[in-house]
Amino acid sequence: MALMHRFFIKDGEVTYCSRFLRSDSYVKNSEKNRIVVTEFGTLAMPDPCKNIFARFFSRFQVPSKASAATDNASVNFVKYKGDYYVSTETNYMRMIDPQSLETKDKVDWSKFVAVNAATAHPHYDRDGTTYNLGNSYGKAGFFYNIVRVPLPKEKVEKDEADLSGAEVLCSIPASDSRRPSYYHSFAMSENYVVFIEQPIKLDLLKFMLYRIQGKSFHKVMEWDPSLETIFHVVDKRTGKVYPITVTYYGNAMFTLHQINAYEDQGQLVMDMCCGDDGAVIGDFTLENLSKASGEELDKFYNGLCTNLPKRYVLPLDVNDQTPVNENLVTLPFCTAKAVKMADGRVYCVHENLYGDDLLEFGGLEFPQINYNNYNTRKYRYYYGCGFGHVFSDSLLKMDVETKELKSWRYPGLYPSEPVFVPSPEATDEDDGVVMSVIITPREEKSTFLLVLDAKTFTELGRAEVPVNIPYGTHGVFNDRA
Ligand SMILES: [Fe+2]
Repeated sequence: MALMHRFFIKDGEVTYCSRFLRSDSYVKNSEKNRIVVTEFGTLAMPDPCKNIFARFFSRFQVPSKASAATDNASVNFVKYKGDYYVSTETNYMRMIDPQSLETKDKVDWSKFVAVNAATAHPHYDRDGTTYNLGNSYGKAGFFYNIVRVPLPKEKVEKDEADLSGAEVLCSIPASDSRRPSYYHSFAMSENYVVFIEQPIKLDLLKFMLYRIQGKSFHKVMEWDPSLETIFHVVDKRTGKVYPITVTYYGNAMFTLHQINAYEDQGQLVMDMCCGDDGAVIGDFTLENLSKASGEELDKFYNGLCTNLPKRYVLPLDVNDQTPVNENLVTLPFCTAKAVKMADGRVYCVHENLYGDDLLEFGGLEFPQINYNNYNTRKYRYYYGCGFGHVFSDSLLKMDVETKELKSWRYPGLYPSEPVFVPSPEATDEDDGVVMSVIITPREEKSTFLLVLDAKTFTELGRAEVPVNIPYGTHGVFNDRA
């Protein structure tokens, strides 16, 4: 059940509180005093093959069954029209009060705009306009839909959720209508949204059988490395795929989280955490995660593909006159390549956004930047979790110009996603702090909120919490609560 946490920091004091989201799922389970609503990771019917990616499936329920999708929004805090919501990967979100953590209105995306669901990773323009990614399917086929939710003309305090004015900016047809791709997030620069159609495919026909016959998850969502990764570029100003006649593609890869994207000299720089073996999605089962001994778990983990930060660059001004078989990436600081092939498509090869020393920390995930000031802009630093374990066991800071890595790692301490907070008068990009919730299984140690100086990555302080906090996923900083 989604448990919301809030650290309130003022005048050198830290207050902590937590509250269960009063979702319909929570209420039903509480009434029966056991789990009766099937969820991701916590099942009314034991099914060790159920996978953490399975919540994505709720998007594909027939409309009459949509109410069966969970509103147990346990993934992220997101913002629409200035209001806070908690989100998962279903068609439901829950409005919440960021101060009291009180649960408010339940929102069904499909009531506002023609999408089945939205990701837990929207992007924001500087004026607060929110963008997200959903999908729709019907007789015409399967579409990935870019959604835009504008700011209200004037802010009125109210308790009801309001996504009015939400519109589908662009519908991108799936390259294979019967096998759409899994997605967890998308990239956004100042003028463009990029949807990454990766070769993790959901077989809709098998999915229907899965629901009827209880077939294994592995057979429904498959990594198909024979396919390419397609980058769909949408112009935010026109709502059209851009450039209409050009397809950008790269080798098969698997991505969950984007780092940043920006335009520079007619090229779109796109940074993300990705791996080259998406078969890993079949391994995140409860059965694997509950392996008994440490050695067995380590063996399992060491066999997994690790996600690493990579940079792709898409040349935007490609047309009939563009020469073939030449590298079109001209940015002096970048070794990524993009080549127009004889068939007119543009083949993109990434640059690694790290040095060899990152490999000692395992993969890197949960990337964060100085979002408010540098999202969609050229930037230098990102922060993330190192995954030397099934759970993250280090905090990392990377300089993308020098590939210099800074780290915070202590045995037995497991950090959550780092959240960057700029100093009020900051002039440098990394002038601020990085905050993370550190959990530990060691009984003599307690959970704490860690505050690092973002420049030096040294500890400024910690606030110990006298209760156990479960391992979390994503978090946000709010300077107004
Ligand atoms: Fe995520």
